[in-house]
Amino acid sequence: MRRFLFLAVILLISSGRTIAQSPTTLKDAYKSCFTIGAALNPAQFTGQDQVEEAIVKQQFNTISPENVLKWEVVHPQPGAYDFAQADKYVEFGQQNRMFIIGHNLVWHSQTPKWVFEDGKGNPVSRKVLSRRMRDHIEKVVARYKGRIGGWDVVNEALNEDGTLRQSPWMKIIGEDYIEKAFRYAHKTDPQAQLYYNDYSLENEAKRKGALELVRKLKAKGVPITGVGLQDHVNLDSPTADQIDTTISEFGKLDVKVMITELDVDLLPWPASNQTADVSLSVAADPKLNPYPNGLPDEVQQTLAKRYADLFGVYAKHCGLVTRVTFWGVTDKDSWKNDWPVKGRTNYPLLFDREGQPKPAFNAVMQLGPKVAP
Ligand code: XIL
Repeated sequence: MRRFLFLAVILLISSGRTIAQSPTTLKDAYKSCFTIGAALNPAQFTGQDQVEEAIVKQQFNTISPENVLKWEVVHPQPGAYDFAQADKYVEFGQQNRMFIIGHNLVWHSQTPKWVFEDGKGNPVSRKVLSRRMRDHIEKVVARYKGRIGGWDVVNEALNEDGTLRQSPWMKIIGEDYIEKAFRYAHKTDPQAQLYYNDYSLENEAKRKGALELVRKLKAKGVPITGVGLQDHVNLDSPTADQIDTTISEFGKLDVKVMITELDVDLLPWPASNQTADVSLSVAADPKLNPYPNGLPDEVQQTLAKRYADLFGVYAKHCGLVTRVTFWGVTDKDSWKNDWPVKGRTNYPLLFDREGQPKPAFNAVMQLGPKVAP
C-alpha cells in the first residue's frame, strides 16, 4: 500500500510537471527561438474587438501595424500629420510589453500622390523628394523613438527579376533613395532596428537582387539590421526548401532574418506566379471561392501540415530568424479575403472566424517543443 501511494505521488508530480512544461501559447512554444507576432487593425487595439484583443494579449509578444503607420494614414496632406491611430497602436504595445514594429517608412503603395508631385501635378525634383522623405522619416521615427523597436524602412523595392522597381522613389531620387532612408531613420533613432522588407525573396532571381542590395548597403556602412521575408505564401509555393535556402543565404550576410507577414492562401490562385503585389486584382468568380461555408476537414489538415512544415524551417534557423509575425489574427479580418480577389472566404491564419484555434494552430503548437525546446 505504501509503495502504491509512493508511486501514485511520483506519477502525480511528474504529470503535473508535464502539464506545467508544455506551453499553451505560441509565444511560449517558440520563446527559445523567436518572438511571435501579429499585424493588428484598430479594432484589435482599441477595445472594439474583445475576442481578438484577448487572443493578441495571450498569444503574441510582438505586434505590427497592418495599416495605421503607412504614409497615407499618418501623413495624408503636405505638412499635415495624423497620429491618432498610430498612437493608440503604440500605447497598446507598451501596455502589454510587446516588441513594437513600425511598418513602413518608404513604399510605392499607400503613399499619397502629392508626395511625388508639385502643385501643378508635375514630378518634383530629386532634391524636393529627398527632403520630403527625410521630413517624413524624421517626424514619424522621432515620435516613437525608444518605443517602436524595429522599422520596415524600405518596403518592396525590387522587381521579380531582382532589378530595382521603377517606383516614383527610384525614378525621381535614383537608387540611393534606399540608403538615404536607412540613414535618416538611424540618425533619428540610433537604437531602432532597421529592416528591408519584401515578398517572393524565395524566388531565385529576386533573392539574388535582394542579396546584392543588402551586400551593397552593408559595404557602404548603411545601418541595416535585418531582412523581412513577408511570406504571404500558398499551400505549395514557395517550397520549404526554397524558404530554407533563402534564410541561410541572408544569414551569411550577417543580418537578422524575420518572417514579417505570414499567411497561407489555400484558395485557387488566380495568377501565373505566387506574389504579394498589392496592385494585382482579379475579378470575382464563384469558382475562385470554393469554401464560402466552411473548410473541408481534408483541406484543414493540409493547411496544418503546411504550417508545421513552415515552422519546422523557421525553427531550424533558431537565432538567425528572430521573429515570426502573422499578417492578421483570425481568418475573419485577413486581407486575404479581399486580395487578390474581392469578397472571398479565405482561411489563411491559425484562428478561425470565431477566434477558435484551428488544427493548424495545434500543429504549430505540437511542433514547438520538438524544434524549439
Ligand atoms: C495590406 C493590408 O493588409 C491591407 O489592409 C491593405 O489594404 C493593403 O496592404 N505587403 C505589405 C503590407 O507590406 O503592407 C500589405 O498589407 C500586404 C502586402
